[in-house]
Amino acid sequence: MSFNVPDLRYPYDALEPHIDAQTMAIHHGKHHGAYVANLNKAVEGTEYASWAAEALARDWAKLPEGMRAAVRNNGGGHYNHALLWESIGPGGGGRPSGSLGAAVDRELGGFDALKAELVKAGLGRFGSGWAWLSLGPGKKLLVESTANQDSPLAEGRSPVLGIDVWEHAYYLKYQNRRADYLEAFFKVIDWKAVGERYAALMEA
Ligand SMILES: [Fe+2]
Repeated sequence: MSFNVPDLRYPYDALEPHIDAQTMAIHHGKHHGAYVANLNKAVEGTEYASWAAEALARDWAKLPEGMRAAVRNNGGGHYNHALLWESIGPGGGGRPSGSLGAAVDRELGGFDALKAELVKAGLGRFGSGWAWLSLGPGKKLLVESTANQDSPLAEGRSPVLGIDVWEHAYYLKYQNRRADYLEAFFKVIDWKAVGERYAALMEA
């Protein structure tokens, strides 16, 4: 198969009590698993099976019309979730330091303002989607939101951190309380990993 669900570098219960083990198991195993299975099915036997997930999430609109919706949803789902698992972890929380911390202060008015903007973007996304810290024009940070599994990549921006606000990310523990989930999510963000991603994007 062309695409696989990446292994987590921590066990499912590592993010307790903020993100519960059952949610992690279903989210990683079943939801991400389904995106990967459906993506493989969509690209099987085509040249697109050898594309990187990032390229599919960015350029799905260039694909043949019959495959476009499946790749948009499932390629995006695969790419977004792979990024998510790398961006959270045990011992997370706090705030960014280094070059990302400095850029957040300089470009977004500081961490508290960034957090408020991300929470607003997450709460404001009607239905399913993501809140993002992205790198936009001129490699400046911005906060945005996308619907469903759309990626900032398709809009020409680079995701630095994505927060999944689909109900499947929080419903078992938080039910309809998306605000409580968002507060908890900030306790599991691995700012070191996110900062390394930012630094790599700035050097690219
Ligand atoms: Fe998800």
